[in-house]
Amino acid sequence: MQEYHIPIMLDETVGALEVKPERLYFDGTLGGGGHSERILKLGGRIIATDRDGEAIDYALGRFSKNSDYNGRYTLVKDNFKNVLQILKERHITELDGAILDLGISSHQIDEANRGFSYMSNAQLDMRMDRDQFLSAMTVVNDYGEDELSRIIFTYGEERAARKIAAKIVERRKKEPIETTSQLTEIIRSCMPDNPKAGHPAKRTFQALRIEVNSELKGLGEALSDIVSVLKSGARFAVITFHSLEDRIVKQTFRYMSTDCVCDKSLPICVCGHKATVKQISHKGIKPTEKEISANSRSKSATLRIVEKL
Ligand SMILES: C[S@@+](CC[C@H](N)C(=O)[O-])C[C@H]1O[C@@H](n2cnc3c(N)ncnc32)[C@H](O)[C@@H]1O
Repeated sequence: MQEYHIPIMLDETVGALEVKPERLYFDGTLGGGGHSERILKLGGRIIATDRDGEAIDYALGRFSKNSDYNGRYTLVKDNFKNVLQILKERHITELDGAILDLGISSHQIDEANRGFSYMSNAQLDMRMDRDQFLSAMTVVNDYGEDELSRIIFTYGEERAARKIAAKIVERRKKEPIETTSQLTEIIRSCMPDNPKAGHPAKRTFQALRIEVNSELKGLGEALSDIVSVLKSGARFAVITFHSLEDRIVKQTFRYMSTDCVCDKSLPICVCGHKATVKQISHKGIKPTEKEISANSRSKSATLRIVEKL
C-alpha cells in the first residue's frame, strides 16, 4: 500500500519541541500521524485534530498497533482553529508544546476521488472535511466571475486569473464543470504551454483548495490561541507550504515576539504590547537537500519555531 504521508522535517520539528515523557503536546494537523507518532515514541502524550475523518481513522489504526501508546493519545475530528474549545471540553488548561503541519497530506492528493489533483480525473471536490457543504464544484459553478478571478489571483498568485475566470463562466453556461479534467482543460486553453513554469493548473487548483477549505482565514488567530495555552518554555513548530500561509505565520510570530508595536515615529511607547514568545528560528528552516531528493513534496516547506515566554 502507498504510504499515507511521509512526515516532513520530522527530526527538526519534533526535535524542536524537546519532548519529555508524560507531557502533553497538541498536533493540530494529524494527517497520517507521522509527527504525532514520533512524540508518542518519545513518551509524550498527544491531543491531535484533523478535519479529515480518513486521517483520524488511519492514525487510530496506526497507533492502536502499538500497545505502548495506549492511553497517551486523543484524536479529534475537528478544525484546529477550534483549539480552545476542544481543550476546554477536555479540561485541558495548558500544553507542553504544539505543532501544525499545514496544507494537505499526500493521501489527500493521491486519492483521485478527493478531487485535489490536476494529475488525475475525478469529480471536483477538494474538501478536507467531507462533511462540509462547500466543495470546488460549488466554487467553480456558482461563484461570480469577479469573485473567481479574485480567488485565483489572490490564493493562486495566478497572473492569468481574469482570463481563467472568464473562461470558466463562459464554459459553465453550456454545461456544468464537474471534473478536474474539465477544469484543467479550461485552464490549459487560457495560457501557452510553458514546461518551465510547471503545470498550468497548479496555481488555480491551489487557489480553489484554499478557498474551499478556508485555509488562510483565522490562521493568525489560531496561532495566537495555541500560544495562549502553552506553558512558559513550551515550543510551537509550524510548517507551511506556500508563501501566503508562510507570510501569515511569519508576521504573527514577529508580532507576538515584539514588545512594542508602535509606529517607529512615536517618541515613546503607547501600545503597551508585550511579547509572549521568542523566536527560535528567525529565518524559516528549509528541508535538507537529502530530504528533498528523497521526498520532492518537502521542497516548498518552511518551518518556523517559537517558544512561550
Ligand atoms: C501535511 S498533512 C499533516 C501530515 C502529518 N504531520 C503527518 O506526519 O502525517 C496536513 C493535514 O492537516 C489537515 N488539516 C489542514 N488544515 C486543517 C485544519 N484547519 N484543521 C484540522 N486539520 C487540518 C489535513 O486534513 C491533513 O490531513
